[in-house]
Amino acid sequence: MSLQKRAKWKSKTGFIFAAIGSAAGLGNIWRFSYLCYRNGGGAFLLPYFIALIVVGIPLMILEFGIGHREKGSAPKSFYSISSKLEWIGWWPVVFVMFGIVVYYNVIISWCVNYFYHSFNLSWGADPGAFFDSFLNVTSGPASIGSISLPILGGLILVWIISWIIVFFGVQRGIERATKILIPSLFVLTIILAVWAATLPGAGDGLIQYLRPDFSSLADAGVWIDAFSQIFFTLSLGFGIMIVYASYLPEKTNIVGDSLKIAVGDSLFAFIAGIAVWGTLGYMANAQNVEISEVVSESVGLAFVTFPQAISLLPAFSVFFGLLFFAILTFAGISSAISIIEAFSSSLMDKFGFERKNVVPVVCAIGLLGGVVFTTGAGLYWLDIVDHYLTTYGLVAVGILECIVIGWYVKAENLRKYINSVSVSKIGKWWNYSVKIFIPALLLFFLLWSLGVELTEPYGGYAVSILVFIGVNWVVMTLVAAFVFSFLKWKKEAV
Ligand code: ALA
Repeated sequence: MSLQKRAKWKSKTGFIFAAIGSAAGLGNIWRFSYLCYRNGGGAFLLPYFIALIVVGIPLMILEFGIGHREKGSAPKSFYSISSKLEWIGWWPVVFVMFGIVVYYNVIISWCVNYFYHSFNLSWGADPGAFFDSFLNVTSGPASIGSISLPILGGLILVWIISWIIVFFGVQRGIERATKILIPSLFVLTIILAVWAATLPGAGDGLIQYLRPDFSSLADAGVWIDAFSQIFFTLSLGFGIMIVYASYLPEKTNIVGDSLKIAVGDSLFAFIAGIAVWGTLGYMANAQNVEISEVVSESVGLAFVTFPQAISLLPAFSVFFGLLFFAILTFAGISSAISIIEAFSSSLMDKFGFERKNVVPVVCAIGLLGGVVFTTGAGLYWLDIVDHYLTTYGLVAVGILECIVIGWYVKAENLRKYINSVSVSKIGKWWNYSVKIFIPALLLFFLLWSLGVELTEPYGGYAVSILVFIGVNWVVMTLVAAFVFSFLKWKKEAV
């Protein structure tokens, strides 16, 4: 039995808001839009929705099922299944805390800065050059350069806000904050999408966004992006959904809620996509070029293309800028807090620490870890760490979860449990999905991705750099997970 009484959500909607808050994040706008652009728009949408249905929803049900049955954070849940498996619970919470959220909060800091810059459209006529000088960007990942003070300042602010929310706990912090953030996020995004869709030329962008391209289904790269994006956007393989389900009451609706959360998250990405593609169409029209020519793809899309589009607007530019960067900031914070919670609750479960002591320390360490991403090499480091942790870390955790639940716990046992506590039920197909289909599919794409990587080093970076930053990050977090799992449980906590 736990020393401290386990926290509970105040209401069912509170849980749904918090889970959508975790899912709907920078990934839905910043990441989704550049992946979509890189893969040609509609060509990405189809694999994305297929990945959502065949992998995303069944895995979300699985993670909720584990957390609800074991009533614990990811490490505690896997420890309850078998003490030898505890490391599988630690690995995701360690790499999201010491990897993903560390650079994620830096991107939120960029958004905070750009919100401020929107007041007088400080990026001027050349947002690309502005972005580079804002980042103090260097010539490559090996040249660290100097810290950008505005980014560091924004980062401190973001960590303070995250700390305050997580510090106040499940009901008074996370639930209350997401109940405000999520509805605001949806309303603001709908306003932005409607507005963008009515700009002159927007239709061309929307056609490219929505027109399916079946030939893309034969392209492995598109599938790899689609699968890793589904993990990232639904916060799967993070350990978050496991702990969020542990705060649910006995009788609940794991299956129905998973559907609501997955659909809510994808709907949000889809609507944000309308805003992005409408704007791209408008830009192409205003500059008289093809849509494929208007954008600096990847990370820069949100910070270069959007500001450029904002400057091109005939009216209300400032308002449009404020709206866009407020949306990104809100979306980011509601996800960042879920990552911090996943790691903090693991420490609380294992060592019996109190929230008020754990959260400030965790946030201070996260802030320190983020400093490297505020330097001139930050953009490159962020790109590399994001690629490795998302493509390999998250997907590997998904495979491990399926193997443990499918073969060790037995999928049928968890399915029976889920059906016994859930209003909506799940059929036997789920067992096969978890035991064979999903792990085989993910393993196939993981190996494929690895194969591509070996012939074409990611992003054109030097192999030594990729190993030093990316591979190392994955390996070090795995080592840390083993170390955590070897430490002793505080007696009362098990
Ligand atoms: N699920 C979060 C996002 O999409 C991490 O940004």
